[in-house]
Amino acid sequence: MHLCISALVLAFIPSLFAAEDNSGWAFGVIPDTQWDSQNAPFHGVAVHIIDAINAEFVRQKVDFVIQVGDLAEKPTNIAFQTRAKHNSVLAEAGIKFYPLRGNHDSDGRAETVARYKAAFPNLPGTSGAGGSSPDLPGAEGMTYSFTHKGGKFILLDTFPLFTDKVQGGKAYTPSDYLPWIESELKKEDHRFALVFAHRNLRGQLHKENIFGMNPDSNSEMQNAFIACLQQNGVRYFISGHDHMYARSLIESLDGKSEIWQIISGSASAKNYLPIPSLVRRRESPLGRLYTPTLSLLLDDQKKTVKRDLMRVGFLIVRVDAERILFEYYSAESFGERPQVPVWKLRDSFGYTFEHSP
Ligand SMILES: [Fe+2]
Repeated sequence: MHLCISALVLAFIPSLFAAEDNSGWAFGVIPDTQWDSQNAPFHGVAVHIIDAINAEFVRQKVDFVIQVGDLAEKPTNIAFQTRAKHNSVLAEAGIKFYPLRGNHDSDGRAETVARYKAAFPNLPGTSGAGGSSPDLPGAEGMTYSFTHKGGKFILLDTFPLFTDKVQGGKAYTPSDYLPWIESELKKEDHRFALVFAHRNLRGQLHKENIFGMNPDSNSEMQNAFIACLQQNGVRYFISGHDHMYARSLIESLDGKSEIWQIISGSASAKNYLPIPSLVRRRESPLGRLYTPTLSLLLDDQKKTVKRDLMRVGFLIVRVDAERILFEYYSAESFGERPQVPVWKLRDSFGYTFEHSP
């Protein structure tokens, strides 16, 4: 019954957005931008990579850019300010920037949240900025949604937002957000919706995810979250954290629902490989050795249809009246100094809207 109602609603939505969609438009996704040097000009931020990717975003005339967290290596004031300053070329081109936080952007203290907000003010969900945030203390402008030309974009912050009796600070879980997510997805204000977070549904390398510290943590939460997204028409969950590109079909632990996960690449000093490979750091090619103890991670790697490793990359997502098309570009790793990389298209995928005019 529920699916039938959704289908009826969707049938009417394209006509609402057809006029503004016809010309086609695009948005960008930039992955983690940590840099290991705390010295100028980096301050823990991959400034030269950001500059190169932003130049490409401007050249490709995207409407806005989303970053899936880990803006900086450490949540210092100068790091956040440096990250924000390197978006000036976007601002000059009228391209808005929508970040969310990663684990490196949070240390559980309210002070670091304030630093982040000072560098990235007036995000959707804050007073007067439009969009929506969950009605949860501290979530305004940190977890938020906005609409743009028929698309709905939901960005989830799963890191500590304020200090309370919880050791390490209070963070919200996908379960905490789920009623708000569902209400946003059921609104008739979009023809497609995408959900973003820093950590993954299931990592290629990292075993912690948005649900907990292991691939099978909080199984009921996992099942409910993936089911909610699938039942409400969300086909892609886009994340970072793993510092690689990987497109995988993720099945819920109960086997009842599935969604594509797009780990969006690396714009960082650090590039990782999936387990059980060696983890490599730029300055230490041998890195640490991870052993494959977690079968769920390995199972999901079998459902990975595309990977791009040890490069610097980003996504451009193109939308028109008929379809949404993701393009992943990457170049050989760089970042010590300014560079004009040769970007190559490594993956593209998408779908045609069911009720295209
Ligand atoms: Fe991370």
